[in-house]
Amino acid sequence: MTQDELKVMVGQAALAHVVAGSVVGVGTGSTVNCFIDALATMRGQIAGAVSSSEASTARLRAHGITVLESHLVERIPVYIDGADEIDPHGHMIKGGGAALTREKIVADLADRFVCIADESKRVVTLGRFPLPVEVIPMAAAQIARRFEALGGRPVLRAGVVTDNGCHIIDVHGLSIADPAAMECDINQWPGVVTVGIFARNKASVCLFGTPRGVETVRYDASS
Ligand code: 5RP
Repeated sequence: MTQDELKVMVGQAALAHVVAGSVVGVGTGSTVNCFIDALATMRGQIAGAVSSSEASTARLRAHGITVLESHLVERIPVYIDGADEIDPHGHMIKGGGAALTREKIVADLADRFVCIADESKRVVTLGRFPLPVEVIPMAAAQIARRFEALGGRPVLRAGVVTDNGCHIIDVHGLSIADPAAMECDINQWPGVVTVGIFARNKASVCLFGTPRGVETVRYDASS
Protein backbone atom coordinates (compact mmCIF):
# COMPACT_ATOMS: atom_id res chain seq x y z
CA MET A 1 0.00 0.00 0.00
CA THR A 2 1.15 3.54 -0.64
CA GLN A 3 1.48 6.11 2.13
CA ASP A 4 -1.53 7.94 0.68
CA GLU A 5 -3.62 4.75 0.88
CA LEU A 6 -2.60 4.31 4.53
CA LYS A 7 -3.72 7.89 5.23
CA VAL A 8 -7.10 7.28 3.61
CA MET A 9 -7.48 4.11 5.69
CA VAL A 10 -6.83 5.84 9.05
CA GLY A 11 -8.90 8.86 8.03
CA GLN A 12 -11.87 6.56 7.56
CA ALA A 13 -11.10 4.57 10.72
CA ALA A 14 -11.20 7.79 12.75
CA LEU A 15 -14.94 8.11 12.02
CA ALA A 16 -15.52 5.43 14.67
CA HIS A 17 -14.21 7.92 17.28
CA VAL A 18 -16.53 10.77 16.29
CA VAL A 19 -19.31 11.22 18.83
CA ALA A 20 -22.66 11.63 17.08
CA GLY A 21 -24.49 14.84 17.96
CA SER A 22 -21.33 16.56 19.20
CA VAL A 23 -18.79 19.06 17.86
CA VAL A 24 -15.61 17.40 16.58
CA GLY A 25 -12.14 18.96 16.78
CA VAL A 26 -10.28 18.79 13.48
CA GLY A 27 -6.52 19.06 13.01
CA THR A 28 -4.46 19.91 9.94
CA GLY A 29 -2.42 18.08 7.34
CA SER A 30 -2.64 15.52 4.58
CA THR A 31 -3.85 12.72 6.89
CA VAL A 32 -6.50 14.98 8.38
CA ASN A 33 -7.58 15.94 4.87
CA CYS A 34 -8.48 12.26 4.38
CA PHE A 35 -10.40 12.36 7.66
CA ILE A 36 -12.28 15.50 6.61
CA ASP A 37 -13.27 13.85 3.33
CA ALA A 38 -14.55 10.85 5.29
CA LEU A 39 -16.32 13.09 7.82
CA ALA A 40 -18.40 14.54 5.00
CA THR A 41 -20.36 11.27 5.00
CA MET A 42 -21.34 11.99 8.65
CA ARG A 43 -22.05 15.70 8.31
CA GLY A 44 -25.74 15.28 9.19
CA GLN A 45 -24.83 13.45 12.40
CA ILE A 46 -22.49 16.02 14.01
CA ALA A 47 -23.14 19.45 15.49
CA GLY A 48 -20.20 20.89 13.56
CA ALA A 49 -16.44 21.14 13.77
CA VAL A 50 -13.83 23.30 15.46
CA SER A 51 -10.89 23.69 13.12
CA SER A 52 -7.17 24.16 13.75
CA SER A 53 -6.30 26.05 10.56
CA GLU A 54 -7.64 28.14 7.71
CA ALA A 55 -6.81 25.25 5.36
CA SER A 56 -8.90 22.73 7.32
CA THR A 57 -11.70 25.27 7.71
CA ALA A 58 -11.85 25.74 3.93
CA ARG A 59 -11.93 21.98 3.33
CA LEU A 60 -14.60 21.40 5.98
CA ARG A 61 -16.79 24.17 4.56
CA ALA A 62 -16.31 22.86 1.01
CA HIS A 63 -17.89 19.63 2.26
CA GLY A 64 -20.81 21.55 3.80
CA ILE A 65 -19.64 20.93 7.38
CA THR A 66 -20.41 23.77 9.81
CA VAL A 67 -17.26 25.26 11.36
CA LEU A 68 -17.69 26.88 14.77
CA GLU A 69 -15.37 29.51 16.28
CA SER A 70 -13.40 27.85 19.07
CA HIS A 71 -14.31 30.55 21.60
CA LEU A 72 -17.97 29.50 21.27
CA VAL A 73 -17.16 25.95 22.35
CA GLU A 74 -16.37 25.03 25.95
CA ARG A 75 -15.55 21.31 25.62
CA ILE A 76 -15.47 18.77 22.84
CA PRO A 77 -15.32 15.00 23.30
CA VAL A 78 -12.66 14.34 20.69
CA TYR A 79 -9.93 16.03 18.67
CA ILE A 80 -8.62 14.20 15.61
CA ASP A 81 -5.25 15.16 14.16
CA GLY A 82 -2.09 13.79 12.58
CA ALA A 83 1.47 13.94 13.86
CA ASP A 84 4.99 14.17 12.50
CA GLU A 85 6.31 11.76 15.15
CA ILE A 86 4.77 9.82 18.01
CA ASP A 87 6.65 7.99 20.76
CA PRO A 88 5.56 4.92 22.79
CA HIS A 89 3.87 7.16 25.40
CA GLY A 90 1.75 9.11 22.89
CA HIS A 91 3.97 12.20 23.03
CA MET A 92 4.17 13.83 19.63
CA ILE A 93 6.05 16.28 17.46
CA LYS A 94 3.60 18.34 15.42
CA GLY A 95 3.73 21.46 13.31
CA GLY A 96 5.00 20.16 9.98
CA GLY A 97 2.03 22.00 8.49
CA ALA A 98 2.73 25.14 10.56
CA ALA A 99 -0.61 24.88 12.39
CA LEU A 100 0.77 23.81 15.78
CA THR A 101 -0.55 26.71 17.87
CA ARG A 102 -4.17 26.36 16.83
CA GLU A 103 -3.79 22.59 17.00
CA LYS A 104 -2.72 22.86 20.63
CA ILE A 105 -5.59 25.24 21.39
CA VAL A 106 -8.22 22.91 19.94
CA ALA A 107 -6.57 19.83 21.48
CA ASP A 108 -6.83 21.58 24.84
CA LEU A 109 -10.63 21.77 24.46
CA ALA A 110 -10.89 18.04 23.95
CA ASP A 111 -11.43 15.15 26.32
CA ARG A 112 -9.52 12.82 23.98
CA PHE A 113 -6.85 13.31 21.33
CA VAL A 114 -7.13 10.72 18.57
CA CYS A 115 -3.97 10.70 16.50
CA ILE A 116 -4.10 9.33 12.96
CA ALA A 117 -0.84 8.47 11.24
CA ASP A 118 0.84 6.02 8.95
CA GLU A 119 3.25 3.80 10.84
CA SER A 120 6.33 5.67 9.54
CA LYS A 121 5.57 8.31 12.21
CA ARG A 122 6.32 5.87 15.05
CA VAL A 123 9.61 6.54 16.87
CA VAL A 124 11.25 5.44 20.11
CA THR A 125 12.56 8.93 20.94
CA LEU A 126 11.23 12.19 19.49
CA GLY A 127 13.61 14.40 17.53
CA ARG A 128 14.44 12.79 14.20
CA PHE A 129 11.81 15.08 12.65
CA PRO A 130 12.98 18.71 13.00
CA LEU A 131 11.08 20.30 15.89
CA PRO A 132 8.79 23.12 14.66
CA VAL A 133 8.52 26.17 16.90
CA GLU A 134 6.20 29.09 16.15
CA VAL A 135 7.86 32.36 17.12
CA ILE A 136 7.18 36.08 17.20
CA PRO A 137 9.37 37.35 14.31
CA MET A 138 11.38 39.87 16.40
CA ALA A 139 12.48 37.06 18.75
CA ALA A 140 13.51 34.56 16.07
CA ALA A 141 17.28 35.23 16.21
CA GLN A 142 17.45 35.05 20.00
CA ILE A 143 15.39 31.84 20.08
CA ALA A 144 17.64 30.32 17.39
CA ARG A 145 20.70 31.07 19.57
CA ARG A 146 19.04 29.33 22.53
CA PHE A 147 18.48 26.20 20.43
CA GLU A 148 22.10 26.27 19.25
CA ALA A 149 23.16 26.34 22.90
CA LEU A 150 21.10 23.14 23.38
CA GLY A 151 22.97 21.48 20.49
CA GLY A 152 20.21 21.96 17.92
CA ARG A 153 20.45 23.41 14.42
CA PRO A 154 17.61 25.91 13.94
CA VAL A 155 16.43 26.76 10.42
CA LEU A 156 13.88 29.46 9.70
CA ARG A 157 11.12 27.97 7.49
CA ALA A 158 11.47 30.13 4.39
CA GLY A 159 8.43 31.98 3.10
CA VAL A 160 6.07 30.69 5.78
CA VAL A 161 3.78 33.00 7.75
CA THR A 162 1.42 31.14 10.06
CA ASP A 163 -2.33 31.74 10.40
CA ASN A 164 -1.31 33.84 13.43
CA GLY A 165 1.12 36.05 11.47
CA CYS A 166 4.20 34.44 13.00
CA HIS A 167 7.26 32.51 11.79
CA ILE A 168 8.34 28.89 12.17
CA ILE A 169 11.81 27.72 13.19
CA ASP A 170 12.55 24.02 12.53
CA VAL A 171 15.17 22.69 14.91
CA HIS A 172 17.25 19.79 13.63
CA GLY A 173 19.40 17.42 15.64
CA LEU A 174 17.56 17.36 18.97
CA SER A 175 17.05 14.16 20.92
CA ILE A 176 14.03 14.77 23.11
CA ALA A 177 14.46 12.40 26.04
CA ASP A 178 11.98 14.19 28.33
CA PRO A 179 9.29 15.72 26.10
CA ALA A 180 7.15 17.13 28.95
CA ALA A 181 10.12 18.93 30.54
CA MET A 182 11.38 20.30 27.23
CA GLU A 183 7.90 21.48 26.22
CA CYS A 184 7.51 23.29 29.52
CA ASP A 185 10.99 24.86 29.33
CA ILE A 186 10.83 26.12 25.73
CA ASN A 187 7.33 27.53 26.25
CA GLN A 188 8.86 29.93 28.82
CA TRP A 189 11.29 31.51 26.36
CA PRO A 190 10.27 35.06 25.42
CA GLY A 191 8.89 35.17 21.89
CA VAL A 192 7.99 31.49 21.67
CA VAL A 193 4.33 31.22 20.69
CA THR A 194 4.19 27.42 20.74
CA VAL A 195 6.69 24.59 20.65
CA GLY A 196 5.66 21.59 18.56
CA ILE A 197 6.10 19.08 21.39
CA PHE A 198 2.69 17.73 22.38
CA ALA A 199 3.41 16.04 25.71
CA ARG A 200 0.87 17.81 27.91
CA ASN A 201 -1.73 17.45 25.14
CA LYS A 202 -0.58 14.00 24.14
CA ALA A 203 -2.53 11.38 22.24
CA SER A 204 -5.07 9.24 24.10
CA VAL A 205 -5.02 6.79 21.25
CA CYS A 206 -3.29 6.50 17.88
CA LEU A 207 -4.66 4.79 14.80
CA PHE A 208 -1.64 3.65 12.80
CA GLY A 209 -2.09 2.82 9.14
CA THR A 210 -0.11 -0.31 8.29
CA PRO A 211 -0.18 -2.64 5.28
CA ARG A 212 -1.79 -5.19 7.66
CA GLY A 213 -4.65 -2.79 8.53
CA VAL A 214 -5.28 -0.17 11.21
CA GLU A 215 -3.40 -0.77 14.44
CA THR A 216 -4.93 0.95 17.47
CA VAL A 217 -2.58 1.90 20.32
CA ARG A 218 -3.96 3.38 23.55
CA TYR A 219 -1.75 5.44 25.87
CA ASP A 220 -1.74 5.69 29.63
CA ALA A 221 -2.74 9.25 30.61
CA SER A 222 -0.26 9.28 33.48
CA SER A 223 2.94 8.34 31.59
C1 5RP B 1 0.33 20.26 11.00
C2 5RP B 1 0.61 19.01 11.74
C3 5RP B 1 0.28 17.73 11.06
O1 5RP B 1 -0.60 17.01 11.84
C4 5RP B 1 1.54 16.96 10.84
O2 5RP B 1 2.47 17.77 10.14
C5 5RP B 1 1.28 15.68 10.05
O3 5RP B 1 0.90 16.02 8.76
P1 5RP B 1 0.61 14.94 7.64
O4 5RP B 1 -0.64 14.24 8.03
O5 5RP B 1 0.48 15.74 6.38
O6 5RP B 1 1.80 14.01 7.60
O7 5RP B 1 1.08 18.99 12.85
O8 5RP B 1 0.79 21.39 11.70
